[in-house]
Order: sequence, then structure tokens, then C-alpha cells
Amino acid sequence: MLKMMKLTSPLHGIILILFVILGIVNSTSATTNYNVLNFGAKPNGKTDSTNAFLKAWDAACGSADSTMIYVPKGRYLLGSVAFQGDCKSPQITIRIDGNLVAPVDYQVLGKSTNWLSFEGVSDVSIIGGALDAKGPSLWDCKASHSNCPSGATTLSFTNSNNIKIRGLMSLNSQLFHIVINGCENVHVQGVKIIAAGNSPNTDGIHVQLSRNVEIIKCSIKTGDDCISIGPDTQNLWIEQVTCGPGHGISIGSLGKDLKEKGVQNVTVWKTTFSGTQNGLRIKSWARPSSGFVQGVRFMNSVMRNVQNPIVIDQNYCPHNLNCPDQVSGIKIKDIIYEDIRGTSSTPIAIKFDCSVKNPCTGIKLQNVNLTYLNKAAQSSCSNVVGKAFDLVRPNSCL
Ligand SMILES: *[C@@H]1O[C@H](CO)[C@@H](O)[C@H](O)[C@H]1NC(C)=O
Ligand SMILES: *[C@@H]1O[C@H](CO)[C@@H](O)[C@H](O)[C@H]1NC(C)=O
Repeated sequence: MLKMMKLTSPLHGIILILFVILGIVNSTSATTNYNVLNFGAKPNGKTDSTNAFLKAWDAACGSADSTMIYVPKGRYLLGSVAFQGDCKSPQITIRIDGNLVAPVDYQVLGKSTNWLSFEGVSDVSIIGGALDAKGPSLWDCKASHSNCPSGATTLSFTNSNNIKIRGLMSLNSQLFHIVINGCENVHVQGVKIIAAGNSPNTDGIHVQLSRNVEIIKCSIKTGDDCISIGPDTQNLWIEQVTCGPGHGISIGSLGKDLKEKGVQNVTVWKTTFSGTQNGLRIKSWARPSSGFVQGVRFMNSVMRNVQNPIVIDQNYCPHNLNCPDQVSGIKIKDIIYEDIRGTSSTPIAIKFDCSVKNPCTGIKLQNVNLTYLNKAAQSSCSNVVGKAFDLVRPNSCL
């Protein structure tokens, strides 16, 4: 078409230049679309669409363009799927308007580590979507007998970089909802997580071996930790997260392994805990370890009826197995608690139970106001060194 135009007037020249510019803009921002329906996915909730999703992924991953995998409205039955890199496509967006559902029989996923997993990918975004892992039948199995599979994590990213998860909902995971493992530059925003308060090991978001992870504006109601932070995590930013039911935001359990790496530079800002077992927790096994936790800022938190609003527990040893009479080797230092207020549902609102061998150091409390039944609560300290500033209620035992 451009070739047919003759430059008969200045106006034609301007039009020609406009076409050329539009052409350039178009070719640099080109995104190729892959609709899962075109690969045989069926939005009826009954037909297994696992292969269709894998084919759509292979097509997008192998494209030289930026790509979008589109999942229209409807319910898609999926078994365990691993979306693997490396990809040729420089950027893959998975836009989900539908619901992805797991098989009703928990045995189908039960022995897999993950339901939906991404491994070795870069610049992948998941926008929208609801993931229903159908966990309750497995939870029932675990509650009534011991011969049950451990269950699959709903969504995991492993060894991946530049990941965005936005506006996603995870419902009733069998095990953890979301796991970020060995990743760099991960942005999780507007994610909603829902499972029963008594569902076993259904951590909301678990981060480990990762750098530069942001978790913003998420609502988490689940049966285990809302957010759990494992070894070798650095530069983690958590902002505007609501938690409850659940076990709170927990750094740890750390120190199960002797050679574990530490957790460093974690900010938890503007969080609300409602009826949770813990609020802000650091937890380590009573076992030898070379790990550490340092540079943590817990700021602007509201506690509503929380059993242990502020807790450091370095004497974790469930069922007294594999650690009796040992002490934690994890070194905990430079932990700030600032502007934390609300109610504790037990008399002890602040508990620092640190290691005899490695006392917690550089603990700072500032503007903390926690009450129990409209009265002053209590605090409890062992093997801890630090300072309190401004108002701190209950009276600090530092
Ligand atoms: C700590 O992490 C934040 C992001 O959470 C980052 O902006 C900051 O640069 C990090 N600080 C250091 C000293 O690495
Ligand atoms: C502490 O919190 C209690 C209950 O929320 C409130 O009544 C009290 O005024 C607060 N104290 C200060 C000094 O802010």
C-alpha cells in the first residue's frame, strides 16, 4: 500500500511519514495472541484441558514475539501442568478471565509437588483468573486418617525472573497456595487467597531462596501462615496485606539445616491481622545452624484478637523430635517493631524467646500499644537485647 502512494503533494508526504511511524510502532509493540480454545481447551469444567494449555504454552514460548495466552471465561479442568522455560518469546502474558479447576479426586494431584508450576521462565505475567484446587476432600482425608498424599502446591515459580502475578484468586489449595522458590524480581499484587482456617499446611504465599520480591494489597484467609519466609530470602517487601484466619506472617521455620543461608532486609508495612494465631513471627528450630535473620522492619500493623501478636520463638521443636536439649544456631539481629497496635487474645502480647547460645540483639520497639481484654497485656523476654522508644504497652521487658 505504501508503495502505491505517489508523493504528489506535501500532504501526501506527511501521510506517508505517518504510515511509516505507525508501521514502526506497530512492529515493535506486536503481541501475538494465543487463545487456549484454539488449542482444544474446553470451557465446560469437565473435559481435561491440560494438553491444550501445554500446547498454547509451547506456541507462545517458542514465538519470537511478545505473546499473550488468553483464557476466556469458563471453567477449565486441569491436571498437573509444568510450564517450562527457556522461552524464545521475550515476554509472555497469561490473561485469565476464567476459572482453572483441579480434578475432584484428590489422588490425581495429591502426589505431585505442584498443580501449576513455572520453571526457568523470565518476564512472565499472570493477570486475573481463579484457581480452584478442590482441596477440602484431601483436608478431610488428613483429618480422619494418616494414609493420605501430602498434596500439591497450587501455583509455583521456580528459578524464574521478572514475574508478575496480578488479580489472581487461589481457592482451597491442597497444600500451599503460592510458592516463590529461587526467583528474582517478583511482583505479586491484588491476589486473593481463600481456604478454611482449619485446613492443614495451606500457607498463603511462601517465599524462599529469592531476591527482590514484592507482595502488595493481598487478602489472605487460610489455615497456615498467610505469608511464610524461608531461608536465603533477601529484599522482601510486603505492603497492605490482610491476614486471617491464618497463622500470621512468619519468618521461618529456619535452621532445620545446618548450612542454611539467612534472611535479610524484609519490610512488612501496613498489615492487618484478624483472629490469627500469630501476627509478626520469627521462628527457628532449636538446632545448630549457620543461618541468620537480620534487617527486618515490621511497621504499621493492626492486630485484632491475635493470639501472639509479636513473637520470636527460637525453641521450635515439634513433638520434641530431632532437637531435644539443643539450642538454635540462627542469629537474629536488627529487628524493628514500629506502630503496632490492637488487641491480643492471650495475656502475653509480646514474646521474645531467643536462643541461650545466640541471644537476639538489636531489637527495637517503638509506639506499640497492644491490649488484652481492655487491660494491659504482658511481655516476656528471654535472651534478648534491645531498646524501647516512645509509648510501648505492654511495658517492654527489654
Ligand atoms: C532492601 O529491600 C528493598 C526492597 O524491599 C530495596 O529497595 C532496598 O534497596 C534494599 N536495601 C538494601 C540495603 O539492599
Ligand atoms: C492504647 O490502645 C487502647 C485500646 O485500643 C486505647 O484505649 C488507648 O488509648 C491506647 N493508648 C494510647 C496511649 O494510644
